[in-house]
Amino acid sequence: MTENYEAAPIPILIAPHPLLKARARKVIAADADAMRVLIPRMFAAMYHAPGIGLAAPQVGVGLRMAVIDLATNDIRAPLVIVNPEIMAASADLRVHEEGCLSLPHQFADVSRPARIKVRFEDAQGVRQEIEADGLLATCLQHEIDHLDGILFVDHISALKRNMIMRKLAKEQRIKAGDKA
Ligand code: NI
Repeated sequence: MTENYEAAPIPILIAPHPLLKARARKVIAADADAMRVLIPRMFAAMYHAPGIGLAAPQVGVGLRMAVIDLATNDIRAPLVIVNPEIMAASADLRVHEEGCLSLPHQFADVSRPARIKVRFEDAQGVRQEIEADGLLATCLQHEIDHLDGILFVDHISALKRNMIMRKLAKEQRIKAGDKA
């Protein structure tokens, strides 16, 4: 269950990767067993990184599901969103310097609606609706984007995106070289 944070962290895919660009499918009842295994492993990977959100496509699973934790002061606040849908979004925007566990050490200012209303199912399959602002609004939109194969760098200029992707590729080559 989601309370089990001792699960083995599931490896996170690094961009560019074709599975990060793919659209995920809806979670159905038949996915329940797979989800029970996946959710704790995703939380473990996210806490280990550490990060505040991780979507299933980032671990190579094409399901519309993500885990989020905006914990402050080390008090965990795990949130599982399954089949999320943005029902409403404000016209006014919020700019936040975003990062992503699939683009380690890369950051860019991204502008998104400041307030959103999201419908989703929780880990138990119960329908939930939340109105979010601030960091949670940004984080929810970032994770929901992942379910449609969209990364935060897809929201910035091609020039900035190419710079980030080149820098990431270089860092990954250096990291691979260190291990060799
Ligand atoms: Ni991300």
